[in-house]
Amino acid sequence: MERTQYKQEINMTEELMARINELISHYPEDKRKSALLPVLHEVQDAHDNWLSFELQDKVAEILNIKPVEVYEVVSFYTMFNQKPVAKYMFEFCRTSCCATRGVEDLMEYACEKIGAELGEISSDGLFQVVGVECLGACGYAPMLQLGDFYHEKLTKESFDQLIEDCKAGKITLHDK
Ligand code: FES
Repeated sequence: MERTQYKQEINMTEELMARINELISHYPEDKRKSALLPVLHEVQDAHDNWLSFELQDKVAEILNIKPVEVYEVVSFYTMFNQKPVAKYMFEFCRTSCCATRGVEDLMEYACEKIGAELGEISSDGLFQVVGVECLGACGYAPMLQLGDFYHEKLTKESFDQLIEDCKAGKITLHDK
């Protein structure tokens, strides 16, 4: 990914910095890097769910580590986004249980419903469908993650309802 490809406004508010410092305080001063994952979650949640290189540099500065140590973590985990994403990103599990319970059909349906290809953002900027690996809710397949929450035993009808709830502003994305 090109460093200059996507621009992002960085807003490290006092409130965000207080949460970050609280996370860092759980570790010894010389082990600040141990807070990297929770700090990245906090920072991403506060920045429209994605992390530009500039924002990753900021995290490196705060934790007093090299930027590359942040880049390698962000690029490894699919839960971190390196480019802008839709407000509502439907992360469908496409691993075994969900696959055998028809998730591919549901994803195709979801893409049609939002009018965008897999991975693309809908023209209104609201929706996006992506496929991810097992999310550990195999007994409730097929399922998807939206923000911090799981939506399980999905059907086309329940997905329709989910879209309606998003449009109506009834969906909470974060659990804090
Ligand atoms: Fe879908 Fe595990 S296979 S949650």
